Amino acid sequence: MSLPSHLEVNEKGHLAIAGHDTVTLVQQYGTPLYIYDEDYIRKRMREYVAAFNFEDSMVAYAGKAFLTKAMCRIIEDEGLYLDVVSGGELYTAMVSEFPPERIIVHGNNKSETELFMALKAGVGLIVVDNYAELQQLIQLGYGIHAKKIDVLLRIVPGVEAHTHDYIQTGQIDTKFGFDIESGMAMEALEKAIKSKIINVVGVHFHIGSQLLNLEPFKLALENTARFLAKAKERFNWEAEIMDVGGGLGIRHIPQENPPSISILAKTIKEGIDISFGKYNLQTPKVIVEPGRSIVGESAVAIYSVGLIKDIPGVRTYVAVDGGMADNLRPALYQAKYDAVLCKQPLAKREKVVTLVGKNCETGDILIEDIAMPKIQRGDLVAMLSAGAYTYSMASNYNKLPKPAILLASSRGVFPMVNRETYEDIIRKEVMPEHLEKNNVRA
Ligand SMILES: Cc1ncc(COP(=O)(O)O)c(C=O)c1O
Repeated sequence: MSLPSHLEVNEKGHLAIAGHDTVTLVQQYGTPLYIYDEDYIRKRMREYVAAFNFEDSMVAYAGKAFLTKAMCRIIEDEGLYLDVVSGGELYTAMVSEFPPERIIVHGNNKSETELFMALKAGVGLIVVDNYAELQQLIQLGYGIHAKKIDVLLRIVPGVEAHTHDYIQTGQIDTKFGFDIESGMAMEALEKAIKSKIINVVGVHFHIGSQLLNLEPFKLALENTARFLAKAKERFNWEAEIMDVGGGLGIRHIPQENPPSISILAKTIKEGIDISFGKYNLQTPKVIVEPGRSIVGESAVAIYSVGLIKDIPGVRTYVAVDGGMADNLRPALYQAKYDAVLCKQPLAKREKVVTLVGKNCETGDILIEDIAMPKIQRGDLVAMLSAGAYTYSMASNYNKLPKPAILLASSRGVFPMVNRETYEDIIRKEVMPEHLEKNNVRA
């Protein structure tokens, strides 16, 4: 067993992240505790920017994976663009003074308020997902904008990618985007091109997440190029931008072997050269939108072990003080994780246990059947590669306060999100007057 490269065992034999002892950090900040390695995040961002160095490519970090005000500063500092999918994400970017022209707005059901907010902020691009939105944008645009609104059309390229394989389907069953196959995409493109207030600068697709096989990108680019060739013929219009979405997988468990960022870039470049070349289309600028592959492996989630329930011949449950409220992924889609003990990360793994949370759900399993060293109550367990889609999906289920989140680097350790208090959890609750303690009537 070896640790991910940015984690290490320090002189005390403890797990360290960005050179900081996780056991010491827990003494100061408590558990559950998420610790992000800033240097690692920046390194991944730089790798993306260096790899996507062709045709003025743009790297847009997908905020949905993990977004805080501190993250916005890092994204800006590294020169990336930022994908947002809601008014809340846009607001986080705006209060962090993220340059609006570097913001790309996504979402399958953007409200009028969100679109208005985006236009007012002067975002760089809006990715139009459906007819209603197109219509709404046209109407709003006339009210607000002096200049045309730059948009991408989200198309469904007829490729559905899964972690290990992919299938090509005629009619894709998805709530996102305009489907090529049914003619929806062409119709939407025509409408957008004809509008005087919309400037369609290109198209977008996102074919899946945690991709360990990049072949589906080639097929998606081929289908898209074929579609764009027809569009060129009909409207004498060509895409300046090809947004290929995110999706690059990471190593959640040791058995997974994700392709590198440079292989992803090479695959995309080759796919575009071949497919766009074949249909005699101009070479577009590429936008790539990584989320997980930037922050996923950058963080550990540290929990304290409480109950250990050994059911002889059946299973040993090891319960920790977090769970599906701070990491919904295992319960939502059986996501896999690896874990180590903070005080002896490389100790021999001698017993298979099931790591569960403290939420009142049988499905609140963090890791099913993981071989771990001998565990005792009070031990600290670190879940590895816990940086993506954890805090961003976190809830207060069972009224559990959301964990503290730290940003660790060679500069030091800084809180990025303070631990919630019980008071925080009920802050928005209002007591109807007739239920006030002294007014309650039977
Ligand atoms: C449109 C879009 N772009 C980018 C991403 C980021 O994907 P990932 O975190 O897998 O890189 C997603 C994730 O669902 C997405 O829907």
